[in-house]
Amino acid sequence: MFVTTSLKADRELVVLAKKVAAELRLPFVPRRGSLEGIKQEYGSTWAVVVTREQIFVSTPGGAFFFHPGMAKNRIKALKKGNNDQMVEAMALAPGDMVLDCTLGLGADATVASFAVGPEGKVVGLEKVPVVAFIVAKGMQEYDEDDPALIAAMRRVEVINADAGEYLRDLPDRSFDVVYFDPMFRQPVHESAAIKPLRYLAETEPLTPDLVAEALRVARRRVVVKERRNSPEFARLGITRISGGKHSSIAYGILEPEEAEEWRSRVYGRE
Ligand SMILES: C[S@@+](CC[C@H](N)C(=O)[O-])C[C@H]1O[C@@H](n2cnc3c(N)ncnc32)[C@H](O)[C@@H]1O
Repeated sequence: MFVTTSLKADRELVVLAKKVAAELRLPFVPRRGSLEGIKQEYGSTWAVVVTREQIFVSTPGGAFFFHPGMAKNRIKALKKGNNDQMVEAMALAPGDMVLDCTLGLGADATVASFAVGPEGKVVGLEKVPVVAFIVAKGMQEYDEDDPALIAAMRRVEVINADAGEYLRDLPDRSFDVVYFDPMFRQPVHESAAIKPLRYLAETEPLTPDLVAEALRVARRRVVVKERRNSPEFARLGITRISGGKHSSIAYGILEPEEAEEWRSRVYGRE
């Protein structure tokens, strides 16, 4: 991967692109001609492109850039007093602390941040440096006339880290909720906006060891988002599933009180 600019970049844009390259520890390649041409020359499938308007990653699935996705409509619905399946599965209340172990574009983290309010805290972990970089920047800079959405987004703390490594260093019971939304094995209905993430994201499935760490760190719940009827729930020893009957996704719930029983269910069968 490398960093370049849009065509006809001025000095200022080149300086910015070089700064981005240094931050991401990627080479800077001056833009000459087509992006596809430079990609071929450098044998790279991806490129980070710095333009005057935004920074995006050019992938074979299209451009990956920050946007709030469904967070806007979900926050609007919560404000009207409607339910949100994820917020319900997490049993979120103002003041809660949430660790989102799979940040992605941060839509779930933003909704959680709205639900826990300014007295709460959401920390989002993202393993892929370029995804963490673009989403962290987007969450601080994205703007539109929706103060609740923007405030919730700005409060999310983004950390470029592997969830397993990060969890191992956390004290017992240090977050109310630990959340996982791993890349689905088969995409449900993938919007054009999400598709590029598939080319960049970490796709390793969750492991029982990771869930065990999460159960140690969570005060209230570990929540796992998956496809409805996904065999992942059984593989991870999750039997309590919440979510709308007609929804294509579901939320698996584990509570620290059942950790012992969960252990014997998952490790006992090995
Ligand atoms: C399905 S996406 C999450 C989407 C997110 N819930 C949202 O609302 O936008 C999963 C993300 O988790 C990241 N990821 C996967 N495994 C990870 C790990 N072990 N540590 C940190 N991030 C991880 C992937 O790179 C990907 O960006």
